[in-house]
Amino acid sequence: MASFDLIVIGGGPGGYVCAIHAAQLGLNVACVEGRETLGGTCLNVGCIPSKALLNATHHLHEVHENFEKMGLMGGAPTVDWSKMKDYKQDVVNGNTKGIEFLFKKNKVTWLKGWGSIPEPGKVKVGDEVHEAKNIVIATGSEASSLPGVTVDEKVVVTSTGALTLPAIPKTMVVIGAGVIGLEMGSVYARLGAQVTVVEYLEAITPGMDGEVAKSFQRILSKQGLKFVLGAAVQKVEASETGAKVTWKLRKNDSEASLDADVVLVATGRKPFTAGLGLEALGVEMLPRGQIKIDSHFATNIKGIYAIGDAVPGPMLAHKAEDEGMAVAEVIAGKHGHVNYEVIPGVIYTTPEVASVGKTEEQLKEEGRAYKVGKFPFMGNARAKAVFQAEGFVKLLADKETDRILGCHIIGPGAGDLIHEVCVAMEFGASAQDLALTCHAHPTYSEAVREAALACGLGAIHA
Ligand code: NAI
Repeated sequence: MASFDLIVIGGGPGGYVCAIHAAQLGLNVACVEGRETLGGTCLNVGCIPSKALLNATHHLHEVHENFEKMGLMGGAPTVDWSKMKDYKQDVVNGNTKGIEFLFKKNKVTWLKGWGSIPEPGKVKVGDEVHEAKNIVIATGSEASSLPGVTVDEKVVVTSTGALTLPAIPKTMVVIGAGVIGLEMGSVYARLGAQVTVVEYLEAITPGMDGEVAKSFQRILSKQGLKFVLGAAVQKVEASETGAKVTWKLRKNDSEASLDADVVLVATGRKPFTAGLGLEALGVEMLPRGQIKIDSHFATNIKGIYAIGDAVPGPMLAHKAEDEGMAVAEVIAGKHGHVNYEVIPGVIYTTPEVASVGKTEEQLKEEGRAYKVGKFPFMGNARAKAVFQAEGFVKLLADKETDRILGCHIIGPGAGDLIHEVCVAMEFGASAQDLALTCHAHPTYSEAVREAALACGLGAIHA
């Protein structure tokens, strides 16, 4: 038995960041992880491998669409799917090994195995019980399926199975037009699959600014994705070689179905807390399976904290990381804080989509007086030079004070551009503050400045 100031259960972005930061703060820390490698869902079977496949297929798309225009002749390369998967796995391995190195560097002990909490102050891993003054639960989430749908990770897959398909399917049905559905749908569409996305709501990407969602759907449709909206999936009947997806259109209850080689179920995720022993401990849970915490990430049981996908809020790696840092500060007797008003969200398709703060719909609902500054990438010289002039930046600011309330971008590099707005929002900046900041020419970020200018007298290049 060993004794620690803190044991973190879960080695994903929330857990490993928490462990490293707590060690930086001088605590004696262990992190429990049952997978063969650190990094959790994000590094092993989520954010990172999907970005590798998005990168490879983005280049393929570029070859098809733009190479000849630039005088780069010779036709499209053939796809070696097995090699592409190796590349993806190399990227994963590099990252997970990196976390192992960081644990060693920061003297964080990796307790290999699945952890449970037999009583407050104790964590059991395998046959060993360790003592912990504090415990942080960072066990993440798992894919949530639908009634009438059995996932076999071969023909009917979640995002995990979608990363390791034995062959590129000719046809694919994606259930759910959320982040996973559209990122993985894009990957396979670019690899030549006919992808049909079936979505329950009347728009794609629920919660996203409406104008951006519309533009995003139009662009993805041009790239070959098909959409069936307002359709509730009823069942998926799988065979060895494919599956039939049946849905009901919500507007008139009419039924339709489609056969596909592969069906990707991307209808959301749910907290993963099974096996921890929370019920026996009396840890208070919320109706949707999340652990209830207070503003210091503390559960109702003294010395037990929880963060990340296992607690309420957006299921995003960076939100979990921020909570991991903050709870480490709290445990070290300092002040830990997460500003939930400024958490960016990014979809890594081409073009990328990124947002932070309020959407226009939210501001309307709140009855706030606001102004909109919009700038199309058509007016951005750099975007035009690389054939990525689709999309726009939309900045929302308070009508009276000019304070920035939100930003929504669809276009090249959106996932990076959004962060200057995040920093501006953290500092309580106005749109004019952004507009008065010199932006290098020619860069995509000039489009952000132009949107800020559009909140005042007007953009220059539109
Ligand atoms: P999601 O919540 O983003 O989207 C699920 C979609 O499925 C929704 O549009 C919903 O209306 C639809 N749906 C639900 N039931 C349905 C039914 N019966 N028939 C048809 N459609 C139905 O969930 P997703 O994409 O599975 O992602 C899970 C989590 O992982 C999300 O919280 C997401 O933010 C996170 N994630 C984030 C990424 C990023 O930041 N780039 C990448 C991948 C995942």
